[in-house]
Amino acid sequence: MDRPGLLEMNRRDLMVGASATAAITTVPAGALAQEADAPVRQTVSLTVNGERREMDLDLRTTLLDALREHLHLIGTKKGCDHGQCGACTVMANGRRMNSCLSLAVMHEGDDITTIEGLGTPDDLHPMQAAFVKHDGYQCGYCTPGQICSAVAVLEEVKAGIPSHVSADLTARQEATLAELRERMSGNLCRCGAYSNILDAMGEVAGVPA
Ligand code: FES
Ligand code: FES
Repeated sequence: MDRPGLLEMNRRDLMVGASATAAITTVPAGALAQEADAPVRQTVSLTVNGERREMDLDLRTTLLDALREHLHLIGTKKGCDHGQCGACTVMANGRRMNSCLSLAVMHEGDDITTIEGLGTPDDLHPMQAAFVKHDGYQCGYCTPGQICSAVAVLEEVKAGIPSHVSADLTARQEATLAELRERMSGNLCRCGAYSNILDAMGEVAGVPA
């Protein structure tokens, strides 16, 4: 029952494997770690507040960091950086999103609107003017995200997108206070300006609070 062919193959495989292991272990550990940590970069092109912007980014850069650290649009705030507070809300192609949860590279070619793109101090967006009128803030940290979200919420209602509290998913949606409250539930305000925010949204939506 001698099987020299098989035995020879096993010996040869063993030798090849041993040489490969020796080759790997001779590469300095530091060099391997350095290579693994080296950032992979890519040029990302976005339209931000109507202006075409190109950035050379580490692929791990979030949209929030691209806006704040690379484009210096610091109106968008970093609160939790974990998708839990809504301070980083911006609009991507008209839909609101938490920019801390999304990589910039995923938005190649997208149209991004931040609070800086909604209005100017001399020409406020109606939602910004309503927040000022109704004192929809105290410290103001959550406010850019609240306003971007509030603007997008009214668009969602207009587009007929139902929410968790919509009684009829197929009916035309109305901007009731219950709807506005529910749709804004992802935007936290540690100062507790919720009732004033609702007043501001109600005014823009034409719903008395
Ligand atoms: Fe993005 Fe809190 S910073 S959700
Ligand atoms: Fe201070 Fe909302 S106004 S956290």
